[in-house]
Amino acid sequence: MLSDAYGRAVTDIRISLTKRCNFGCVYCHDEGLGPTARPRAPHGEEMTSTEVERIVRVAREFGIRSVKFTGGEPLLRTDLEEVIGRTVEQIPDVSLTTNGSMLENRAEALRDAGLKRVNVSVDSIDPEQFRTIRKGGLAPVLRGIRAALRVGLKPVKLNMVVFRPTLANIPRMIDFVGETEGLKLQLIQFMPELVAHREWMVDIESVKRWLEEHASSVLVREMHHRRVYLFREAEVEVVDPVYNPEFCANCHRIRVTHRGELKGCLNRNDDLVPTRGLDDEALRAAFREVVALRVPYYGAYIADLPRRAPATEVPAELAKARDA
Ligand code: 5AD
Ligand code: SF4
Repeated sequence: MLSDAYGRAVTDIRISLTKRCNFGCVYCHDEGLGPTARPRAPHGEEMTSTEVERIVRVAREFGIRSVKFTGGEPLLRTDLEEVIGRTVEQIPDVSLTTNGSMLENRAEALRDAGLKRVNVSVDSIDPEQFRTIRKGGLAPVLRGIRAALRVGLKPVKLNMVVFRPTLANIPRMIDFVGETEGLKLQLIQFMPELVAHREWMVDIESVKRWLEEHASSVLVREMHHRRVYLFREAEVEVVDPVYNPEFCANCHRIRVTHRGELKGCLNRNDDLVPTRGLDDEALRAAFREVVALRVPYYGAYIADLPRRAPATEVPAELAKARDA
C-alpha cells in the first residue's frame, strides 16, 4: 500500500481514457485538464488498452482496490469493453463515469466485460434545460440509464452538479430517483477552480440543511462521516469538496490522464508524472513519486481558505421549488 506524507493511503485510481466528449457541459472541469476536446475531435495521445492494463497491474501490486474510468466521455472509446475486460483481470472493482448518451447499446457488453457500476450525469430532467446545460439530448441518456439497470449495473448513481441553474431541480430529481428502483442521487458541489464562474456557486451548507429538514431520515456513513438522506424510496448523498479540508483529508485516490500521466490531485496540474515508455520498475517509481507529491488541496496546498459559509437561509430557488 502506498501512503502519502499526510497518512492518506491510496486505495483507488481514476483513469481518463479520452479528452474527447460529444457533450459540452457548461460546468465541465474535464478532470482538471482544461477544455474538453469536442465534439469527437480525434485525439492521438490516448493510452492504448495495453498501456491501461499495465498501469492497472502496477496499481494492483500497490494494493489499489478499485478503478474508475472517466473521460471526456469514455464511451467514445470503441475499445472500452476490451479496456474493461483487461482491467477486471487485475482489479475486479471497476466502475465508469459517463454522460450516458451512448450507453443504451453497449450496457450489456460492458457488463459482460466485467463492469460493475456506472455513474451517469443528469442535472435536469427537463429536456430543454438539459440541452442548455449539457449541449446534448436527455432522451438517449434516460434510455442509457434504463439499459444499465436492465442488465444489472446497479446501483446507477446519477450525478447532479449543484450550481445556480440546477438548484431548483433538486426536489424533482429526488422524486425521479425515488420512482425508479436501482437509482441513487449524488449531488455534486460545483467546483469553480477549473472553470471560473465563481458566481455559479451555491451555499452547499444550506442545501444540506434543506435535505436535513425534508428527508424522512438521515444516516451517517462510517466512512468519511458522509450523510445519506433518505426520502422514502430515494437515497441522496452530497459530495462537497470545495473549501473542505475534511474532504481532502479523506481522499484516497490518484488519477491517470488520457496520456498516461499519473496525477495526484484533481485540482493540480503541477504534479503530473509521465509514464509512457517506462519499464515496470520505472513505472513503480513513478507511482511512488506521484504519491510523494500528494498534498491535501484544501487545508494544505491552499492553506488560506475562505470560510465555508455557515448554514444560512435556504436558497430562494430551492425554497420556491415545491416540497419533495
Ligand atoms: N464541478 C462539479 N462537478 C463537475 N463535474 C464536471 N465538472 C464539474 C464541476 N465543475 C462532474 C460531473 C460529471 C463528472 C464527470 O464530473 O458530475 O458527472
Ligand atoms: Fe465534461 Fe462529462 Fe459533460 Fe462531457 S459529459 S462535457 S466530459 S462533464
